[in-house]
Amino acid sequence: MEHDFWHKRWAEQRIGFHQESVNKFLETHYSALNLAPEAQVFVPLCGKSSDMLWLREQACHVLGVELSDTACEAFFAENGGAAEKVLVDGFYQREKDEIVLLCGDFFKLSADKLASVGAVYDRAALIALPENLRHAYAEKMIEWLPKGVKVFLVTLEFEGEAGPPFSVRADEVRALFSDRFDITKLASECPGEGKDAGRTEIAWLLNDRTLGR
Ligand SMILES: C[S@@+](CC[C@H](N)C(=O)[O-])C[C@H]1O[C@@H](n2cnc3c(N)ncnc32)[C@H](O)[C@@H]1O
Repeated sequence: MEHDFWHKRWAEQRIGFHQESVNKFLETHYSALNLAPEAQVFVPLCGKSSDMLWLREQACHVLGVELSDTACEAFFAENGGAAEKVLVDGFYQREKDEIVLLCGDFFKLSADKLASVGAVYDRAALIALPENLRHAYAEKMIEWLPKGVKVFLVTLEFEGEAGPPFSVRADEVRALFSDRFDITKLASECPGEGKDAGRTEIAWLLNDRTLGR
């Protein structure tokens, strides 16, 4: 997916993916991550998700990465006030109360930026990417994430090819991540109404098989 596609979506505020309320799977199954207080949760392709505030309320430190400066600015402006923007290693970084947002391309991150991550929260990140980028995304996660990390992943399954969002089936989740992770389905739900009719939303827990540092 071209960067311009997402910049245009944010410029035109066509952000139907944004949820005002906290993701229900996250609320219900967060404990499965079994995180220590102050564990850092990485939120790739984070938009201005209010789930990051909820994670902070659970005592997590949050590290988000997002292409759109509009989204990063709006996150802080809508949640207690603007945060200063500084350029660090090619990313525009804003930071407040242990929530750090890096504005830039996920694919330009590196292992050292993610060295303190204890868990990943992916809602509408993997499924926002077309198939070739989903492969690259999973490869980078497998390469960069520190040992012992857990991943809370929310996917969608539905008939049809057009996206985003893209349908990502269980066999693809396994093919992408099973080299490094044990994969457990936590829950699934078919909302059955409106724009979500015919879609199944699935929450996954990925447990790293490699030992923690
Ligand atoms: C479907 S939205 C989901 C946002 C957020 N996870 C949520 O739940 O509201 C996907 C987001 O990924 C961002 N994005 C797309 N490609 C990206 C990339 N290569 N690096 C960083 N962010 C990206 C878009 O700007 C958009 O905000």
